[in-house]
Amino acid sequence: MNNKITTRRNKTLTLTQEELKMFSTKLVNLKNNQSVEINDIINKTVNNNLFEVIDLLPIQFADLIFIDPPYNLTKNYHGFTFQSSTDEQYLDYLRSWFPKVVSLLKPNGSLYLCGDWKCTSALQTVMNENLTVLNRITWQREKGRGAMHNWKNGMEDIWYGVKNHNDYYFNVEAVKIKRKVIAPYKIDGKPKDWEETEIGNFRTTYPSNFWDDISIPYWSMSENTCHPTQKPEKLLAKLILASCPPNGIVFDPFLGSGTSSVVAKKLNRKYCGVEMNEEYCCWAEKRLKIAEKNPIIQGYTDGVFWERNSSSIQQKLQKKSAFEDFLEAQ
Ligand SMILES: C[S@@+](CC[C@H](N)C(=O)[O-])C[C@H]1O[C@@H](n2cnc3c(N)ncnc32)[C@H](O)[C@@H]1O
Repeated sequence: MNNKITTRRNKTLTLTQEELKMFSTKLVNLKNNQSVEINDIINKTVNNNLFEVIDLLPIQFADLIFIDPPYNLTKNYHGFTFQSSTDEQYLDYLRSWFPKVVSLLKPNGSLYLCGDWKCTSALQTVMNENLTVLNRITWQREKGRGAMHNWKNGMEDIWYGVKNHNDYYFNVEAVKIKRKVIAPYKIDGKPKDWEETEIGNFRTTYPSNFWDDISIPYWSMSENTCHPTQKPEKLLAKLILASCPPNGIVFDPFLGSGTSSVVAKKLNRKYCGVEMNEEYCCWAEKRLKIAEKNPIIQGYTDGVFWERNSSSIQQKLQKKSAFEDFLEAQ
């Protein structure tokens, strides 16, 4: 692609030195032996090493915990390199902090834990040791070049567990999926399980545990940052709408570029995240600031999740509803 066009369309978030200075003043730095009240950390980005502050955090404060830890891969997070290890060592690593994170979850709370095929058995083990596992979501994650001597990895796991399987929040109505109808079947001339609209024929369905409608953030998406393993806002939106009540609290112990806090804010939930890299924390703060004016979540329009590559339809819908708002205001 023409270089000028690429530069113009590149929406990757950046920070000036002044912004970095300004956003760093918004971060919370917890000190050893400090007693931490819930109000000290709510709607905040905590810039600390999780392992140094986890015992300070208030127990049972979170309705939903989203964990996207370093996977068992050697990965450079702008200065901090996580080293891959044996499966046993990775399991020991998880066991050293996972039960403590679970203690921060409310008795009726829910937790999601992300990983790839290689570390998934360790993830399943700690989930089973500490929670009731209700499901494993498979996210079809298409990125990268093919491997020459193996199958290219195209999926990730998101383990889903709760503290009490008799008492937990799950709002399936909030996470329905809208798909274009390929074979518009009718009975007595009427659509069977689908609707005819001005912008096309659609079916709205309940979601399964296989997610193939979410792209990884890339340079032309406004949610994109330079974080090496940023999760998509659409993915977090599904988890938060399904498993955190309105106004509830989302906690993320490995916040990265801030995706879970940003989406919680956009969806009127409270949030708290811990991240040890100061620049990532500042990216999160800038995204939170932008979210005040722009609460759009790409792929989630009109209260439903749209299949991939349907942005032109969603734009039509947004224009239509803006026009209706305009008429109403006249
Ligand atoms: C897989 S990434 C999370 C990405 C995040 N979900 C996002 O959307 O940007 C893991 C993050 O954990 C951070 N991290 C790793 N070990 C940590 C620790 N001990 N304390 C705090 N943060 C840590 C890394 O810097 C990295 O940003």
